[in-house]
Amino acid sequence: MDALTLIKTRRSTRKFLQKAVEKEKLEQVIEAGRFAPSGGNNQTTHFIVIQDTAVLENLARIARDEFAKMEVTPDTYASLAKSIKLSQKGTYVFHYNAPVLVLTANRIGYGNNMADCCCAVENMMLMANALDLGSCWINQINWLNDNPAMVSYLKTLGLQEGEAVYVSMVLGYADTPDGLPPRIIMPRKGNPVTYVG
Ligand SMILES: Cc1cc2nc3c(=O)[nH]c(=O)nc-3n(C[C@H](O)[C@H](O)[C@H](O)COP(=O)(O)O)c2cc1C
Repeated sequence: MDALTLIKTRRSTRKFLQKAVEKEKLEQVIEAGRFAPSGGNNQTTHFIVIQDTAVLENLARIARDEFAKMEVTPDTYASLAKSIKLSQKGTYVFHYNAPVLVLTANRIGYGNNMADCCCAVENMMLMANALDLGSCWINQINWLNDNPAMVSYLKTLGLQEGEAVYVSMVLGYADTPDGLPPRIIMPRKGNPVTYVG
């Protein structure tokens, strides 16, 4: 695939096969993230790569328990409100049962923490598409950055003092008839462009 086709056919996958991602493919995806640009070439993005089913279940349970305690108000961001409502029903699995969850953490207080993690995750999602793997951006962990239960569990997984998770991503084989990620190119309705000169 040429670069623009690779970019245009990257679509979010939210249904995954219970099939492990090969080590070589996973390492290429992570390498793509590590080679993303970073502000001032800081390279402080910390990749926590989780494949342990018990850990994934624990994260899903903690997220569900903690979201269930939250209140939805008219100002609540729609996607967060959905996470809260599904958690209150007890059915929520934020990582879509994907076999791999990659957390990108960075230093709290570093001005480009979120931007660097975003660059890393986009690189990883594009690499995933190149390898016929499905991926999806996940915000639910960073919404719990101030939650003591989630933060203390993340520390057992390697999150360092002074770090927080800014972007996460799920990865795996798509549960589609051909096992390939959905690649339908969606026309743009927004994202206007102004050329000057
Ligand atoms: C900043 C950001 C946050 C997102 N958060 C989530 C999320 O928490 N859960 C999810 O399923 N998708 C999430 N997404 C994926 C978007 O919903 C998705 O990219 C968008 O609907 C366009 O669809 P596409 O990725 O298939 O092109 C997020 C994407 C971005 C860029």
